[in-house]
Amino acid sequence: MTEDNNTKDPVTGLTEAEVKAIEDSWNILYRKEHRKENGFKMIIKLFTVHPASIERFPLFRGKTVEEIAEHPKLPALAMATMYTLASFVDNIHETDLLVELVKKLVVSHIKRGVSSEDFKLMYDVVPAWMKEILDDECTSLMLSSWGKLLGVIVAVMSGEEQNVAS
Ligand code: HEM
Repeated sequence: MTEDNNTKDPVTGLTEAEVKAIEDSWNILYRKEHRKENGFKMIIKLFTVHPASIERFPLFRGKTVEEIAEHPKLPALAMATMYTLASFVDNIHETDLLVELVKKLVVSHIKRGVSSEDFKLMYDVVPAWMKEILDDECTSLMLSSWGKLLGVIVAVMSGEEQNVAS
């Protein structure tokens, strides 16, 4: 990556300004005192916006969003999700490592029967979640930059699905 704010990273397609927007938003989303609550909110947002996705989770299958919100395993899943996203943001410039981390995530999900189509649900979940938490601090550049990062995850997942199929 060069100093030029408009140069796109060849792997992620993100410009330096977009990377900064992701990092700035993440500094708020990942604030230690709100981390667990924010991870929790992301998962609940997925289930609220796309109730059918609940069926992908053996732990939560057949439960209502209210019941899931009380589930004793939800906090650990919320934290694990936030730690994974943190590892992506931390390594956003080191793209070989980033891609390997994304591969680990997508392979673990493919093994559970979760597909890249399921991950596309995050294209509207993540912006809704960000707007709720960041409120006035949420910018359109933050939203579009996260959309691009999710696009990288979906692309890596599609690639891994082909590998599994072939
Ligand atoms: C931003 C996107 C996501 C991230 C960062 C993420 C991260 C994680 C992590 C860290 C775990 C636990 C460790 C593991 O097995 O890898 C997990 C578990 C799981 N995820 Fe995701 N996930 C994401 C999106 C999704 C989506 C879209 C679905 C399905 C619609 C999904 C379904 C599952 C399921 C079924 C489990 C197993 C839960 C359990 O039984 O404990 N994930 N996810």
